[in-house]
Amino acid sequence: MNMLCHGEMPIDTENDIVMARKSVREAAVSLGFGVTDVTRIVTAASELTRNIYVYAGSGIMRWQSINENNLGLELVFEDHGPGITDITLAMEPGYTTGKGLGMGLPGTKRLMDEMEIMSEIGKGTTICIRKWLRR
Ligand SMILES: Nc1ncnc2c1ncn2[C@@H]1O[C@H](COP(=O)(O)OP(=O)(O)OP(=O)(O)O)[C@@H](O)[C@H]1O
Ligand SMILES: [Mg+2]
Repeated sequence: MNMLCHGEMPIDTENDIVMARKSVREAAVSLGFGVTDVTRIVTAASELTRNIYVYAGSGIMRWQSINENNLGLELVFEDHGPGITDITLAMEPGYTTGKGLGMGLPGTKRLMDEMEIMSEIGKGTTICIRKWLRR
């Protein structure tokens, strides 16, 4: 069994969101996540790649298996877009500056085990999410 995996994928087009979902699904399945967790992880990746596409125009998604006592999957989403003005506000369900429902970020936090947002106005945004195989 292949216990190590990593990769990266540029997010430039709407189709890249589809490709990102596919890569994340494969990585999560190969690590041994069950169907429910695979769906959670893929949904989170979908929300964060869509945010990159919509708000920053382009960016990159990286994924890697992690092993700290416990095996897990870490996904990092990085863009050099406008940044998030108020991260606390952006995490509130229903908060949107666009045409969305404002559920992408709070939904992602609920679906994953860990989530960290780093953002600087005018510089960009980096979001790291993790899911552990066993908790
Ligand atoms: N990568 C990003 N760069 C800049 N701003 C972002 C980024 N991701 C999120 N935001 C900001 O955070 C807000 C909340 O994001 P969230 O994904 O929760 O909701 P949404 O994208 O507006 O709607 P939904 O995801 O429900 O369709 C966005 O409206 C936007 O202002
Ligand atoms: Mg969103």
